[in-house]
Amino acid sequence: MGLLTTTVIVSSILAFCSGSFSCPGIWQTSLGSSCYKFLGGNLTWAEASLHCREIGGHLAIITSAEENKYLKDFAVRHHVSYPLYRYWLDGKDDESENHWYWDWTGEPIKYTPWQPGEPSNSGQVEHCLGLYGNGNWNDFKCDFKNHAICELEYVDANLL
Ligand SMILES: *[C@@H]1O[C@H](CO)[C@@H](O)[C@H](O)[C@H]1NC(C)=O
Repeated sequence: MGLLTTTVIVSSILAFCSGSFSCPGIWQTSLGSSCYKFLGGNLTWAEASLHCREIGGHLAIITSAEENKYLKDFAVRHHVSYPLYRYWLDGKDDESENHWYWDWTGEPIKYTPWQPGEPSNSGQVEHCLGLYGNGNWNDFKCDFKNHAICELEYVDANLL
């Protein structure tokens, strides 16, 4: 059993005993029953998604204005120079144009605070979802280089 798995199990047990969810060590902040971690770097959507899954989570899923503002502020606070203020989220529309879904759950995306004029599907190749530092969303080419936000949900941590 790896250190990470052990950490997650121990914190799940602690969370169960104390009646509240505490985030395993590498996770930096929490909102509701989710923990989040900022990934700084020149990452494609696939690289960012893989990294989030390797640490037990997935790219961030956002379903409300409250969550969007919280994660936007979190990302901007942890920003590391280049690339610009752009952060991958878990959404894609690679299967059918403009039918956005969360990759982790397969659920259609309902709350969508798009940047004005977006999603533009510029060049017919923009099928991955990202958040700007102003809180608005954009469709990016999936091999664009962005930072990212990973999420670990309590329910997922419990299953590990
Ligand atoms: C991203 O790549 C650029 C060079 O292309 C580099 O200057 C920058 O430091 C890199 N950013 C991170 C966070 O690694």
